[in-house]
Amino acid sequence: MPIGVIESLDHEARGITRLAGKTVFVDGALPGETVEYASFRRKPNYELAHLVGVLSGSTARVKPRCEHFGICGGCAMQHLEPSAQVAVKQRVLEDSLWHVGRVRPGQILPPIHGEPWGYRHRARLAVRRVSKKDGMLVGFHEWRSSYIADIRSCAVLPPHASALLLPLRELFAALSVAERMPHIEVAVGAHCTALVLRILEPLNARDEDLLRKFADRHEVVFYLQPKGPDTAYRFYPLPGPRLSYALPEFELELDFKPTDFTQVNHSVNRVLVRRTLRLLDAQPGERVADLFCGLGNFTLPIARSGATVLGVEGSAALVERGRENAVANELAGKVEFAVANLFECTAESMAALGRIDKMLIDPPREGALEVVKALGEEGGPRRIVYVSCNPATLARDAAVLVSPKGYRFTAAGVVNMFPHTGHVESIAVFDKA
Ligand SMILES: C[S@@+](CC[C@H](N)C(=O)[O-])C[C@H]1O[C@@H](n2cnc3c(N)ncnc32)[C@H](O)[C@@H]1O
Repeated sequence: MPIGVIESLDHEARGITRLAGKTVFVDGALPGETVEYASFRRKPNYELAHLVGVLSGSTARVKPRCEHFGICGGCAMQHLEPSAQVAVKQRVLEDSLWHVGRVRPGQILPPIHGEPWGYRHRARLAVRRVSKKDGMLVGFHEWRSSYIADIRSCAVLPPHASALLLPLRELFAALSVAERMPHIEVAVGAHCTALVLRILEPLNARDEDLLRKFADRHEVVFYLQPKGPDTAYRFYPLPGPRLSYALPEFELELDFKPTDFTQVNHSVNRVLVRRTLRLLDAQPGERVADLFCGLGNFTLPIARSGATVLGVEGSAALVERGRENAVANELAGKVEFAVANLFECTAESMAALGRIDKMLIDPPREGALEVVKALGEEGGPRRIVYVSCNPATLARDAAVLVSPKGYRFTAAGVVNMFPHTGHVESIAVFDKA
């Protein structure tokens, strides 16, 4: 069995070692450890391997809290102490910025992190009837598998949502559509927990009755989703508690639909919004563009600062929610929203946005290449704050901002939005040189 010394972790939390010039990715191995491993896939340039034994362990290795860790694909890093996870993500960010973009920030921002357990306010859980295992499974997929993990609790879901996993199995087993329900969405708000049932066939009267009784007993709100996400509608209770999250520092409460994009980790999101606002430093009289604005998570806090804000977003449904949230929070006079596909942004469409003093960019994993390319080399926003969920596309876009666009790469730092997973969220600041 080969033995290797682990140099670093990759973005999927696999330990990296070398064997005769080849990179070997070892599941479950940590930086600094000497491990024995067994390869299960061999390619010309790399190998994938299982950890067989730890010969010399890392001081950052901890006992995973969850009994399902290692099988369930929901978490990848529970065996690594949370502050060491942040350090790993910081390194992934800096390595990507340098190797992909050949850029380095002038300053590393202190990492943003929070409570590492019970943070996950939004999750899609697969549902499947199986002949063994009590009839029904409700959970994340197993690691690199289409099987559903047999989880009875989940340490990253809020405890009351985790406690629903077993009762939901029982409920679903009793429904006529048990085999026609591929997944559910869980969305935890400030006043209620919503469960969206993706159903391929309508419910019968008995199913509906079972859902109502379950909702009353477990204090949840059921939504039904017969087709795409936009078809999700509230089923019971009607009327019911409001589904929203709060940004108390900005005296804001934002309503959402459980299928809308919302930041998964509400407490880290609060810190992220606060940090972003501090970095943007929007002043009364300034005009700020919030690109990929979603339902106004940053747009409305920016408007509270006295600046006027233009939120641009690809989803018409989210823009509609943003407008409603602006009205409900008495900010309608300060914000404008527009629907646009920002992957098709051009110099002309950018110029059509009018004067922009500062810009926030918070794109999906694909990044914002067309946006940064469309910025004029003269004029343009004085400061850009870029919130990213993919260091590789951030690095690519940062390279364009630095040259040819002439921005100085002032600062960057990580945000541990998803503890125990390999996801690296980050924030970066660029100033007109
Ligand atoms: C990471 S989310 C950020 C949302 C928001 N800033 C927030 O904090 O809740 C990315 C957003 O980009 C939007 N989006 C994805 N592709 C887009 C596109 N091609 N054009 C415009 N918006 C897009 C998504 O709908 C989503 O709202």
